[in-house]
Amino acid sequence: MNVLFLSPNYPPEMRDFTRGLAEVGARVVGVGDTPAQGLVPMVKEALSGYIQCPLTDKDRVLAEVRRSGVHFDRIECLWEPFVELAAWLREQLGVPGMRLATAVSFRDKEIMKQKVEAAGLRVPYHFRARTEEEVKRAIEKIGFPAILKPIAGAGSADTFRVNDGAELDAALAKTRHVSEVSVEEFIDGEEFTFDTICIQGKPAYMNVAQYHPRPLIARSNEWISPIVVTLRDLNDPKLAAGIKLGLEVLDAMGMGDGFTHMEWYRKPNGEVVFGEIGGRSAGGHLVDQMNYTSDTDLFREWARAVCWHDFRGRSERLYNCAIIFKRAIGEGRITRIEGLEGYKARYGRHMVDEQLLRPGTPRRSWLQTLVSDGFVVVRHPDHAATMQMARAATTDITLYAGG
Ligand SMILES: Nc1ncnc2c1ncn2[C@@H]1O[C@H](COP(=O)(O)OP(=O)(O)O)[C@@H](O)[C@H]1O
Ligand SMILES: [Mg+2]
Repeated sequence: MNVLFLSPNYPPEMRDFTRGLAEVGARVVGVGDTPAQGLVPMVKEALSGYIQCPLTDKDRVLAEVRRSGVHFDRIECLWEPFVELAAWLREQLGVPGMRLATAVSFRDKEIMKQKVEAAGLRVPYHFRARTEEEVKRAIEKIGFPAILKPIAGAGSADTFRVNDGAELDAALAKTRHVSEVSVEEFIDGEEFTFDTICIQGKPAYMNVAQYHPRPLIARSNEWISPIVVTLRDLNDPKLAAGIKLGLEVLDAMGMGDGFTHMEWYRKPNGEVVFGEIGGRSAGGHLVDQMNYTSDTDLFREWARAVCWHDFRGRSERLYNCAIIFKRAIGEGRITRIEGLEGYKARYGRHMVDEQLLRPGTPRRSWLQTLVSDGFVVVRHPDHAATMQMARAATTDITLYAGG
């Protein structure tokens, strides 16, 4: 089992997927931008070979992979910008797995919604627009409030809710650098994920998490400490329609093997609406949270699914697991953390991870990375208890910057 794995060292969670591939017995060759000496020890140990090559130069990647002389049985990528490259390489090299057209539909938000809609599933009323003129025409049909977002965006970047003509003009001015947008009906409600590891289109593993608040609100207000919580009880009747939608979306998309990360909305009247789906794992440490939810290792089990069409992870859900992202007050370097010791004294035994930036470290951009200035992860079998601890982390822990 020879596996070519794209970008094995970056983003950081790819290191664990690389390890997982080696653990299930694959011979793993990495290809990525990182110089070979910059690979972390875990990645170096897991790789049988490494090709350093800019992933943005697809012809060069193909030439280098051909030059390696290795016959690959799988080509995998879990980092959104290069999921299409992996599919293109499979086609060029005759390797089984997701084809380019399918990968494009997991990335282009209009093709995606057309596929889901064609299966009779509920998507927001939507249009593709390339010019201001087209955006305005779409808005005339959709009405306010509406959403403007890049056709292949991520992390809520360049995404705007517009409530009236003035807000629309402001959003148009801010999205001039975006060549194509999706214009959508604004769906009010709660927002969830539906994550799977699929084997031949069927989930061998499933997860649902809830965002508090919705990602666009979290990304528009720096003072918020966003919470994402995996839900222990997938049999909760409130989730049934969303999970059913998720399963139908997998069929509509023509999913094969591997991770998916979908988002869906639940309106106050209970109606569920498709948001988006990626043919990759979720970022922002959600895979870690899924592992904490079931005390399992989905990095390794994803690898087993794509290599051997087998899954041996634990699916039993033991906990709700919440991550709380913190954003410091002030600019520059972190100067102090307040409230962490008291928080640990109260909830330490439910805390499974804590990676808040320490004094002296420069702040991260909260707009560019959801992880912001670090995070706390707590878990508990009871959902209300989990949320109470998560809320306490938003109010009782404060990071200051200013150095
Ligand atoms: N039609 C919509 N109605 C309401 N909120 C939306 C809509 N589309 C996007 N959003 C908000 O914007 C966020 C980012 O949009 P999304 O389509 O998930 O793109 P990204 O790839 O950036 O995550 C969503 O998580 C949601 O909070
Ligand atoms: Mg999203």
